[in-house]
Amino acid sequence: MRTDTEHTIFLRDYAPTPYRIISVDLDFKITEETTRVRAQLTIEPRDGTEPGTPLVLDGDGISLDSIAIDGAPLVLAAYAADENGLTLVEPPHRRFVLETEVLLRPETNSKLMGLYRSSGTWCTQCEPEGFRRITYYLDRPDILAPFKVRITAPKSVAPVLLSNGNLLEAGEAGDGMHYVVWEDPFPKPAYLFALVAGDLGSIHDSFTTMSGRKVDLAIYCTHGKESECLYAMDSLKRSMAWDEKRFGREYDLDVFNIVAVSDFNFGAMENKGLNIFNDKLVFASPETASDANYASIERVIAHEYFHNWTGNRITCRDWFQLCLKEGLTVYRDQEFSSDERSRPVQRIHDVENLRVTQFPEDGGPLAHPPRPDRYREINNFYTTTVYQKGSEVVRMLATILGEEGFRKGMDLYFDRHDGDATTIEAFIAVFEEANGVELGQFSRWYTEAGTPEVTATEDYDAATQTYRLTLTQKTNPTPNQPEKAPFVIPVRFGLIGPNGSDMGWSAVSGGTVKDDLIILDQDSVTLTFEGIANKPVPSLFRGFSAPVKLHSGLGQEELLFLARHDVDPFNRWDALQSVSTHLLAEAAEGRAWDNGNIDALRQALLDTLNDANLDDAFKAQAIGIPDETDIARHIGRDVDPDAIAQARAAFITALVAPMAGTLEALFASLAIHEAYSPGASQTGRRSLRTALLSLLVAGSDIGAALAERLYANAGNMTERYAALAISVRNWTPDAQALLGDFRTRYSGDLLVFDKWLVASAQAKDDGLIERMRTILAAPDFPRTNPNRLRSLLGSFVMNNPAQFTRLDASGFRFICEAVTEIDKVNPQVAARILTGFRILPMLEQRRRSAGRAALESLKNQDGLSRNTQDILERILAG
Ligand code: ARG
Ligand code: ZN
Repeated sequence: MRTDTEHTIFLRDYAPTPYRIISVDLDFKITEETTRVRAQLTIEPRDGTEPGTPLVLDGDGISLDSIAIDGAPLVLAAYAADENGLTLVEPPHRRFVLETEVLLRPETNSKLMGLYRSSGTWCTQCEPEGFRRITYYLDRPDILAPFKVRITAPKSVAPVLLSNGNLLEAGEAGDGMHYVVWEDPFPKPAYLFALVAGDLGSIHDSFTTMSGRKVDLAIYCTHGKESECLYAMDSLKRSMAWDEKRFGREYDLDVFNIVAVSDFNFGAMENKGLNIFNDKLVFASPETASDANYASIERVIAHEYFHNWTGNRITCRDWFQLCLKEGLTVYRDQEFSSDERSRPVQRIHDVENLRVTQFPEDGGPLAHPPRPDRYREINNFYTTTVYQKGSEVVRMLATILGEEGFRKGMDLYFDRHDGDATTIEAFIAVFEEANGVELGQFSRWYTEAGTPEVTATEDYDAATQTYRLTLTQKTNPTPNQPEKAPFVIPVRFGLIGPNGSDMGWSAVSGGTVKDDLIILDQDSVTLTFEGIANKPVPSLFRGFSAPVKLHSGLGQEELLFLARHDVDPFNRWDALQSVSTHLLAEAAEGRAWDNGNIDALRQALLDTLNDANLDDAFKAQAIGIPDETDIARHIGRDVDPDAIAQARAAFITALVAPMAGTLEALFASLAIHEAYSPGASQTGRRSLRTALLSLLVAGSDIGAALAERLYANAGNMTERYAALAISVRNWTPDAQALLGDFRTRYSGDLLVFDKWLVASAQAKDDGLIERMRTILAAPDFPRTNPNRLRSLLGSFVMNNPAQFTRLDASGFRFICEAVTEIDKVNPQVAARILTGFRILPMLEQRRRSAGRAALESLKNQDGLSRNTQDILERILAG
């Protein structure tokens, strides 16, 4: 029986290795059946390493064929090799070359870590610990070395041979084989190594950097998909230009290659000069990709490109520092999308995503800080907390220091740490130095988990024209962190007067206020504003200036006032959402709503729709009704997802029925007659149409037919898929027929098949789980492909709470059985799906016990992977 701490790795145990790797020469001989890897590692002891200190190299599932030092084969007693590594008992106490040979079988590598084959193409994924599945190595991010890579392969199946860096050499190798040599002059950790070999099509372009260097750009893909890569190429060029303009960062190699593959464990990977992408984040055509897909492609292409500076040139010392590169790079891609698209709408999207995914993680059994201090399985820490909350922390730094101060810090970071494997502490230090400030308390955001709750109370004295605002923070305990000290919380704010404009004040006391920014750094602060002629309505956390939950204490009337007048578009949106969420939560908890409140909300929505100063994309967000998980989060405990679903349906009907005619007319007037373009104006218009349709289908009897018609007449995937998804989510009379049509209409396209799977998993009828079992059991279901599995199962656990948490436990059991099977093939995918169970603690008692029972029986399965065990045990402990 394993104990809880058996595999736990702690941040406090970090120590450099006694040996370092000076350079790496790899030689891959690829044949259809096997790949032979010969590695020549130039190694030397670090200063201070005692002679006779063993050298321990990582290995995972590989076996050693031959071993030599400086050309001389080693005797058996000189080393020990097994599945988990290779130990040199007494390596030379000087610089030496270790040569090893191993034989790989990429064809049977179903974990998709290391070297594997996806639809005939050989490719690699090494982050975080995949390189040790290719050769014995010091597989950790603080070991940096230049790599030279020779690849020999059959020309017929692998005319394209790629690795990191620049191409040095290429030629014939006899017997139908050919070879290439790539060299990457930038020392890099092994997790950034990549190799691709296959028969691929490609598109080519170039970019001239700000210093005038020409960089050759290429995207490789399955033959026939070339034209679907054009949007990704365009996104790449815009990303390169943006990083120069916004951060002064130029690309450094002569080539930048991207390869799209069909089997990939996550979105994409920033390997130096050779990014490898999940093909769903590259391919786009109006007929097969939605506006949302276009936006994701742009974002992820940018994200991986931006890693070249924040991740590759400056990397992490150890995997605890993951958010050093990920949080920062998400911040950069969010800023890029904001500059390329609508900033307020981007912010709303990003915050919605944070609230829907990260807040539940932070408030549940899997909570951890952006920089954790322990892990059993690092793959389970590529989380929304590390990525999205990590980005929010960087954003708060920018808010507190101001744009210029932030840029000064970033410049110093790039200057000082280029070529380093570094830490969060070093990152914080550059901002302290560049700005002459102290950020010790601020750093808690990196080391403490949990979402702070901020409560606002106010008090206005007309006689003295004094307004007092008290802000109090509190954070609930999280696993391993029972006590919480106060965070430094930047509160961007305004005080809005009766005429709807921001008011000024003659003096403020009681705390730190700089322009429109309050810094809340204690448990509680009371600010006294003088010279306030009327009682204001406070607008707090403008632009969502900190990742907290706000209890504003504002009533519906004041919130609707903000929704109409706030100069901050984010808070206008948020005010409308708060009003709906309150009413919905009340209804779900069995209290009757006040029709007057619904009428007022309806009027506010209509006013928003009629406001000529707002753009369509913003209106689409503003009229959206919080979904079931938003409501559940607001209720927080003893959640009954059925009651929520029912209350939500009734609420939307009450809200929409009286304005259905108006909405329908608007829906009709927004039809687009020009050819499809993924640009802002069409995208905004389509999103508003979709939002209207959503309201009409859920809340009126004319909606279902409108959706059916939109589905039938749609000229692009965005509209057709929206019509399908809305029909299925509301389980309209046409839903089943539309699903059937969609399935056959696009039968050849696997990425569209994923959309069908996602939509299918959203159905609300009692037959759903049986249908999903049938889909999974079909002999031709691609059961080793992560996209397919995540589309069906991931979307079910995350987006269909009422069905997943069914009282009869069939949803829980279905997922546990699927996870058991998937775990044998691909543990990372299995563990990710299992995280859906993190909602258990917030469910009402009966569902909670049914879910626990399902997890307990999963726990009794033999041979579960460490990935799955780790998630399972953390959820059960919570
Ligand atoms: N570094 C990649 C990115 O965010 C993702 C790698 C994910 N790795 C993992 N084991 N989940 O750009
Ligand atoms: Zn990343």
